[in-house]
Amino acid sequence: MAAQFARTHNPDPTPEARRAEILTAPGFGRYFTDHMATVRWNAQRGWHDAAVVPYGPLVLDPASMVLHYGQEIFEGLKAYRQPDGSIASFRPEANAARFRATAARMAMAPLPDELFVASLAELLDADREWVPPAGGEEAMYLRPFMLATEVGLGVRPSSEYLYCLIASPVGPYFPGGVKPIDVWLSTEYTRAALGGTGTAKCGGNYAASLLPQAQGAEHGCSQVVYLDAEERHWVDEMGSNNLFFVYGSGDQIEVVTPALTGSILPGITRDSLLVLAKELGCEVTERRMSWEEWLSGAADGSISEVFGCGTAAVVTPIGRVRYHGGEVVMGDGQPGPVGLRLRSMLTDIQRGAAPDTHSWMRTLVPA
Ligand code: PLP
Ligand code: COI
Repeated sequence: MAAQFARTHNPDPTPEARRAEILTAPGFGRYFTDHMATVRWNAQRGWHDAAVVPYGPLVLDPASMVLHYGQEIFEGLKAYRQPDGSIASFRPEANAARFRATAARMAMAPLPDELFVASLAELLDADREWVPPAGGEEAMYLRPFMLATEVGLGVRPSSEYLYCLIASPVGPYFPGGVKPIDVWLSTEYTRAALGGTGTAKCGGNYAASLLPQAQGAEHGCSQVVYLDAEERHWVDEMGSNNLFFVYGSGDQIEVVTPALTGSILPGITRDSLLVLAKELGCEVTERRMSWEEWLSGAADGSISEVFGCGTAAVVTPIGRVRYHGGEVVMGDGQPGPVGLRLRSMLTDIQRGAAPDTHSWMRTLVPA
């Protein structure tokens, strides 16, 4: 489908000086660009009314289905200014495919991948001045989302949806360098059960994570690690990151990540790091990992590093895992060499500083 986005320029854009000020210290998800992209769907017309319009409030009827039964899904990906001035994003087709899969799980209309990618290109074109310069740690975080807009209180799939894309310039997730985090191993709450919505990126998963997250924070931890819901035995993932465990050192390194057994979000960073770890000469294993194996391996030193991964922070080293009754430090508590190496391999590709041998980068706005 050749997408035609009607463009309405923001009559009151952010003054250039203010935009420059924001771009010097954007933080994460605090500032938004001057425009947003929207596309509507209904059962009669399919996808229609694709537009780029001034960023602003959405008007919703109070009986919109999303407000009652939570039919809302989202994605998260970044676009990077390249050394030649063009703007490229990382594997946007993978986010498009995951958005479609998430929509299917939530009984929502599937957005065609071409329309998803076209919306990114259209918004970035309109707000190209907002994309941070090449060579730094900053990028443009893109947040596509979709909600059920049919008015009515019957519990059934909506017959109308609004797809919307907003963009937020973001700084390094860890200002001042990559810092290890402490994580809370939740034995009380789970994130997803088999047959549930763990493999989908729906807003409700994150709503349900806020209470365990607050419990983790009470124990001084910034993320929660979840176990499988059936046996409370196998490590699934964190609230917003997949997990990697590193065994060995030197040229005998095995990198293990929990297998996608049906409750874990299939992370695009996870998938990419599996490829890069192989290139680095690591043995790469996707399998189940029990919490006992993790804690005893970290305690006896056979696990040398553990890190989380995701779009926002790329690689998040874990310094310590805490649980009811104890805690274990990972390695020397500092970021480990394998995670740091994989992080720089990936960010070099994303920022155009290393060859894109996997064709992961898509130019969305030419130089
Ligand atoms: N797991 C969860 C639950 C997430 O929310 C995310 C972040 O999007 C990830 C994993 C990492 O996914 P990705 O690498 O595609 O950003
Ligand atoms: C990530 O991109 O790694 C995330 O954790 C996304 C989060 C803001 C929902």
